[in-house]
Amino acid sequence: MNAKVTFPIGYQLESCASNIKLISEPVLLTLHPFGSNLDCSQSFGGKSTANMSNNRKFYIETYGCQMNFSDSEIVASVLSQNEFQQATSLEEASLVLLNTCSIRDNAEQRIWKRLKELKSLKKKNPGLQIGVIGCMASRLKDELMEGGLAVDLVAGPDSYRALPSLLTNIENGQQAANVALSAEETYDNIEPVRFHSNGISAFISIMRGCENFCSYCVVPFTRGKERSRNPHTIVEEARELVSKGYQEVTLLGQNVNSYKWEDENGLVGFPDLMARIAEVSPLLRVRFTTSHPKDLSDDLLKVMASYPNICPAVHLAVQSGNNRVLKLMNRKYTREWYLERVAAIRHFIPDATITTDIIAGFCSETEEEHKETLSLMEEAAFDAAFMFRYSEREGTLASKRLPDDVPDEIKARRLDEIIKLQQNLSARSNRADIGKSFEVLVEGKSKRSDDFLMGRTPQNKVVVFPARSYKSGDRVWVKIKGSTPATLKGVPVTDDSISTSDDHNIR
Ligand code: 5AD
Ligand code: SF4
Repeated sequence: MNAKVTFPIGYQLESCASNIKLISEPVLLTLHPFGSNLDCSQSFGGKSTANMSNNRKFYIETYGCQMNFSDSEIVASVLSQNEFQQATSLEEASLVLLNTCSIRDNAEQRIWKRLKELKSLKKKNPGLQIGVIGCMASRLKDELMEGGLAVDLVAGPDSYRALPSLLTNIENGQQAANVALSAEETYDNIEPVRFHSNGISAFISIMRGCENFCSYCVVPFTRGKERSRNPHTIVEEARELVSKGYQEVTLLGQNVNSYKWEDENGLVGFPDLMARIAEVSPLLRVRFTTSHPKDLSDDLLKVMASYPNICPAVHLAVQSGNNRVLKLMNRKYTREWYLERVAAIRHFIPDATITTDIIAGFCSETEEEHKETLSLMEEAAFDAAFMFRYSEREGTLASKRLPDDVPDEIKARRLDEIIKLQQNLSARSNRADIGKSFEVLVEGKSKRSDDFLMGRTPQNKVVVFPARSYKSGDRVWVKIKGSTPATLKGVPVTDDSISTSDDHNIR
């Protein structure tokens, strides 16, 4: 990961694959459920491929949102079925693929920098082929193919099935590209190679694309039309994961609330899909991300409330607390509507955490309007947030119609105020958990000490506790004894002499 923890804890959360992590640059947020999405990257090699007769080995570096991480697992599957082996390091690879993000300018700048580094590497190792896939491929094909960069291959998010033929085309030193967007592609019958996974939690993409056209957002242009996967294949994928020992799945889509599948058996919406996945196993924790506030229905909240294994956590990007700005952003809801949805979440699922995305300094935002974002944050009492400075993206509705006129230093100061407030809200939210007990699904050792484990509550809060004889994959009831804005600290309930079963915050 490029991101390092240097900011005060809780300053900003970045979730990469199964991890939520703090990052140093407030403007760098990516794994966002898509963002909801982050400017993080992770490189993954596969299992050792020693003794392979075939030396075509690929290495994927993934940048950006959870959808990209999920897509890289599809790419790994396509390549593995076509005579490629997954390399354990960049050094042993003959093909490196950068799965890229375009959501903000700084995400793209990192890729340009990485491509320069790879070009130098290619000088030392002329056999190395370089591919750019994902949103930047879709948006900037011509620039990427430009000779100076040494890029051999460019493939957009709907072209991964074509990778084997594109790779054949580049064998003779030619460049190859396919960035066509599709109205149908869902990669439905491809079983992802779960190389990002810890064997405990996995992502399942349930839909692709976005048609909301929020005025600041490049995603509808890079990922194309919204399309949903057949629910039967989604349920099958969840079953398969359970049979392999996975205990948690996160259903992924740019706007999962608009998931829709219609066939001769009728219509399946997102609440029905959630119920079907929850019924795969009562022991499977089910999460989803991300929701658009305009579409978050009571039906979904009722389904969430009625299945104990659907995790009580809702990511609901607000972006701004001011109605004029929301309108300019083309968000299609008002401050009042958003706060009513927050009230509905708290009504149906009182122990739910609510997290959000916020953009500071959108076009023409005034000081008063910024203050309304701060006041909405307090009213909604967000448990955590991904916070960004507005970054104009070429081709978006805002870039065509609205001047990017809030000066950088004002954007930075507003972002800083948003982050500081969120730090206080996160600290308050975590303090309120002291004395409660939660079932923690253990993900691994804590970063700071091997004597401690880290895992997550159903609410998706990170908990650190003494390891004792517990291990990854265990579910441990932990009583919370202390907190920081980013982490809960506790002890296993069995260790806690004063604990009683009444301490359990049952979900
Ligand atoms: N500038 C800043 N933040 C953006 N996001 C999307 N587009 C932009 C942009 N142009 C943020 C939104 C979205 C998250 C994934 O990224 O908050 O919810
Ligand atoms: Fe999310 Fe709006 Fe972008 Fe779609 S257009 S991905 S809903 S921010």
